[in-house]
Amino acid sequence: MGSKARAAITAVGHYLPETRLTNQDLSEMVDTNDAWIRSRTGIEERRILTGAGKGTSYMAARAGQEIMKKRGISADEIDTIIVATVTPDMAFPATACLVQAELGAQNAWGFDLSAACSGFLFALNTGAGLIESGRAGKVLVIGSDKMSSITDYTDRTTCVLFGDAAAGVLLEADHDGLGLMDSVLNVDGRGWEALCMLGGGSRYPATHDTVDKKMHYIYQDGRAVFKVAVKGMADVAAEIMERNQLTGEDVRYLVPHQANQRIIDAVARRMGLSMDRVMLNISRYGNTTAATIPLCLCDWEHQLNKGDKIVIAAFGGGFTWGATYLRWSYNPGSKKESHGG
Ligand code: ACO
Repeated sequence: MGSKARAAITAVGHYLPETRLTNQDLSEMVDTNDAWIRSRTGIEERRILTGAGKGTSYMAARAGQEIMKKRGISADEIDTIIVATVTPDMAFPATACLVQAELGAQNAWGFDLSAACSGFLFALNTGAGLIESGRAGKVLVIGSDKMSSITDYTDRTTCVLFGDAAAGVLLEADHDGLGLMDSVLNVDGRGWEALCMLGGGSRYPATHDTVDKKMHYIYQDGRAVFKVAVKGMADVAAEIMERNQLTGEDVRYLVPHQANQRIIDAVARRMGLSMDRVMLNISRYGNTTAATIPLCLCDWEHQLNKGDKIVIAAFGGGFTWGATYLRWSYNPGSKKESHGG
């Protein structure tokens, strides 16, 4: 078929910490309850990374190892590593460097990408550009966030929402019309104050005062973000469908960022999709920020078939939001043919 190189997902992988934090656990820590959390968010439990000295790179590297194992490639075949995260191990070096070292990906370069809950979507599109231009043959795109490291477990309005996880994909060139077809990506920095972490950067470096004022934790105006998230995600999903002449019948799966089940329900309604065609796992993991979308792909990998039309949609702090339309490139259980080198 066509000769234009598209970036296709050729493997997926993930890492979930073992420790579970249930709604019941949270109700013993703050003034909340299981019924409120389930009805307002859809979340039942989340995973928490425990153990001194373990950060985002620990989870990202393990997701990377699973991706390489499933694709049957060695670390030295990776050209680029992009880690989407808002909870890097350190301000610098980039988490991608730590992942590169742990994987032993001696021929790779890489970097971190910060776009909050749209991080994976933006990183996926950045990696796709490297594949489409021929500058890279194999790109690891990993979303990894240790949200528990910036969550205030005395604030009931945020601590019930977030969890820790890493998940990602391998991107390779496809010449058969599969892979990333189209994207709409947006930022609107005017909304930054509604969802942010003020302290620890160059504007407000860490001091006793920033710690006392809890500036090293997530701040969110939930109600304000909810409204723009519903509109932003639904608008962008509708736009990508219209641009590509897709109806609700054409889309095999919507892969939405998992921030709140009510937001996801609204986006699906706008797209004309029944909920059996929406990937939804927020009940088990909560909002894992950059990891939610590839975590869904991992959970649904065996229901996906070559050629399936998929729409990914995300909304996050910044504000950042967007949608990508892609065609899935392999069948469950089958390994895509190697393109070599
Ligand atoms: N348990 C019990 N009651 C609670 C809790 C809780 N955990 N949290 C808040 N409440 C109370 C509030 O205090 C409030 O009480 P009041 O009416 O007496 O003031 C009441 O419940 C309703 O609060 P709202 O904030 O209006 O609740 P809402 O229905 O909006 O749900 C939520 C809150 C879940 C945070 C929702 O606003 C939301 O999902 N927002 C968007 C999240 C999102 O999409 N973020 C973007 C991605 S995240 C990222 O980029 C890192």
